[in-house]
Amino acid sequence: MSRLLITGGAGYIGSHSAVVLSKIGHQVVLYDNLSNSSRAALENLDQIVGQHMPFVKGDVRNTELLASTLASHSIDAVIHFAGLKSVGESTDKPIDYYANNVQGAISLLQAMQMQRVTTLIFSSSATVYGNPQYLPLDETHPTSATNPYGRSKLQIEEMLRDVAKSDPNWRIACLRYFNPVGAHESSLIGESPTGIPNNLMPYIVQVAAGQQATLSIFGDDYPTPDGTGVRDYIHVMDVAEGHAAALDFLSKTNGWHAINLGTGNGRSVLEMVDAFEKASGRKVPYRVVARRVGDVAECYANPHKSDQLLGWKAARNLDDMCASSWQFHKATGLAVSQ
Ligand code: NAD
Ligand code: WQD
Repeated sequence: MSRLLITGGAGYIGSHSAVVLSKIGHQVVLYDNLSNSSRAALENLDQIVGQHMPFVKGDVRNTELLASTLASHSIDAVIHFAGLKSVGESTDKPIDYYANNVQGAISLLQAMQMQRVTTLIFSSSATVYGNPQYLPLDETHPTSATNPYGRSKLQIEEMLRDVAKSDPNWRIACLRYFNPVGAHESSLIGESPTGIPNNLMPYIVQVAAGQQATLSIFGDDYPTPDGTGVRDYIHVMDVAEGHAAALDFLSKTNGWHAINLGTGNGRSVLEMVDAFEKASGRKVPYRVVARRVGDVAECYANPHKSDQLLGWKAARNLDDMCASSWQFHKATGLAVSQ
């Protein structure tokens, strides 16, 4: 079992991954600047795993603090979730995105090099495929970026590939997540975006809860079976388990690897509304509005490589994703009666 540093460990995917990795016996240290998360999430994490997880409050651009954390906890491997993730915001604040994401990754690599820690899992995204040229998306699909967020992910992936080429000690996996949704079964941790959500699932949840009046569906004239956008929604606990499988894989393999974490199933916006209504017993009123700029019609994974290399496949279904999102939202006390 390894001693792991999880950057961004107080956030949505990082916290679920911390639970999975800790439960299977890894020793986990969390590192986060809490810019998009809270101490409450850390307390809930401790409650789920039944022990205190060491936490360091710090920015990934603080190379010295990272290096001293790696040394003092004798860290064997790093899982790097920390970063900014809003596509729209990245267009308004590109410097913040390159600073947090790209500069943050450089700082982490410098700290790791200093302490001779050479195993790294990086949170990449299906956004690195740009506009799909074919579907389903496999890892050999050409990469490109359509916004600063996506470009920051792509730049980090390319940087990591150079790093792995420079020295055979490096073991690096770039996990390209599709659309993570859902929450841990305890309902103690989950996705709680601040302000009005940008993404579909948290928006649907707020409509079902009566916090937003209607869902705006961004276009119903796409060349898809029902005209609405199609994505590969994947349960966050499946994504978390993918990290455990990737860590195991890296213990046996060196080099640089890009691997999709998706289900391979494309679901339309209307299918998501329908599934959520069934899982929650609530209505999700919607209206169709214009397409959102930058959206693609369809995006879903070819999950073959993760199955082959990691022996990992998404196991949870759409009902699990919707039901756990709803349970988490209710547990936070934000749902109003309908
Ligand atoms: P999140 O915002 O919930 O978690 C990110 C965490 O990183 C937060 O706790 C935040 O406080 C912390 N953080 C941000 N900048 C930091 C910095 N400079 N130093 C230290 N900590 C910092 O986001 P998430 O959804 O859990 O995403 C985790 C990673 O996965 C991100 O890198 C994101 O780009 C990537 N990703 C997310 C999705 C998604 O749909 N959620 C999809 C693909 C990839
Ligand atoms: C899904 C579908 C929308 C909201 C984004 C990022 C991507 C990745 C995941 C990190 C689309 C439609 C949405 C709404 C709607 N993140 N929609 N009404 O666009 O696949 O990806 O999050 O890497 O980089 O771009 O996810 O949840 O925003 O949208 O109709 O209010 O739902 O048009 O078809 P997307 P999403």
